[in-house]
Amino acid sequence: MSQAPREEWGSRLGFVLAAVGSAVGLGNIWRFSYLSAEHGGAAFVVLYLAITVVIALPILLAELVVGRGSGRSPIAALRHYGGRAWAPLGGLCVCAGFVILAYYSVIAGWTLRFTVEAISHGFDEGAATRWSEIRTGWPAVGWHLAFMGITIWIVLGGIRAGIERAALLLMPLLFAVVCGIAIYAATLTGSGAGYSYFLDVDLNQIWSLEVFAAAASQAFFSLSLGMGAMLTYASYLSRESRLEEESLLISVSDFGVAFISGLMVFPLIFALGLSAEVGESTLGALFVTLPTAFAEMQATGRVIGVLFFGALAVAALTSAISLLEVVVASAIDQLAWSRRRAVWIAGTLAAAIGILPALDLGALDWMDKLAGNVLLIAGGLALAVFVGWVMRDPISELRPGGESPPWLLAWLWLLRIPVPLVLAAVLYQALRALF
Ligand code: TRP
Repeated sequence: MSQAPREEWGSRLGFVLAAVGSAVGLGNIWRFSYLSAEHGGAAFVVLYLAITVVIALPILLAELVVGRGSGRSPIAALRHYGGRAWAPLGGLCVCAGFVILAYYSVIAGWTLRFTVEAISHGFDEGAATRWSEIRTGWPAVGWHLAFMGITIWIVLGGIRAGIERAALLLMPLLFAVVCGIAIYAATLTGSGAGYSYFLDVDLNQIWSLEVFAAAASQAFFSLSLGMGAMLTYASYLSRESRLEEESLLISVSDFGVAFISGLMVFPLIFALGLSAEVGESTLGALFVTLPTAFAEMQATGRVIGVLFFGALAVAALTSAISLLEVVVASAIDQLAWSRRRAVWIAGTLAAAIGILPALDLGALDWMDKLAGNVLLIAGGLALAVFVGWVMRDPISELRPGGESPPWLLAWLWLLRIPVPLVLAAVLYQALRALF
């Protein structure tokens, strides 16, 4: 294990924006709004919010505590507090990172392609046919590699000059674009139907383990939990950081962007009378319905469309950076590699794995289910048990030398009993659905 001085974030804002950048991604902008509409609208949103507060937020805080306390990437961090037996859990984190990064980059490659093509020649009327032609194949591989190349380039810059600088620059831009499009969509006639599709309360739908599991895995995916991404980012924090506040800021921003995305996507689709096409598939609606809407809106549509897909690509980029950083930090800590070497080797490997989902949509779907529904939940479950039962004194790790207010005891209690129980049920459901 190398004991070279560890990099650190330059500012508190830099860390928070980088962590929000990790959290806010493709998951927020499309997956969240789509799932809510499918599973009971506002009722699902409330369920998701409850799971975020009771299950995901404690795990987020747990990851931050382990990361900052150990100042190490997942494998070394878990070994630091739990001994050798826990190192394999860190290995699982790294594997999950590879799997997610590989297929995430393929989807991000599509958004990059849509952005560039919208700038150069606008949107096609025949969006559906076009989509079925371009989603897989060697050009998709090319865009995936291009996106991975940008990710590699930023992570090569390291924590301050690479990741933090990108977050400080890109995140405010992303917030502005998302809010801007949501406001614009509100001015369109007929947008009202979009709001009610998104938010109509249907209580009947949320009372099943399946919907509960969907909300839980969405909460995990959206906050980048369960594979040590937040843990790794927190390992570059100084002791003075106030993790309770930071975890709140991160989750509020993540939910905010997800919610506003719903307010952006559905009014646009409904104002143009394309609601019939929403239901068919997650990706179809994103890459077919919206481009159709943009094509019909002519010149305005082209501007909005460039901004929309550009925002998606940016959101995906700051998330992909965090996925790559987990693997890179682990290689630096475990193998004493230089950053340069770790980034090139890990990035190339993830790029190579991503060729499979770029050529085969079935593989992409399977990787998403495996990682999102199983690996992240299993990782979160293990981490809750780790911090709740194995770590000697997590509360004083969080507040060195400080007092322990009741909410801190509640945090530990949640990690000990309710969180593991709920996650075990969710994992059971996910495994049943996958096999
Ligand atoms: N949170 C991101 C999104 O919503 C994706 C992501 C980035 C992620 N890093 C992660 C998911 C780590 C799980 C684990 O799109």
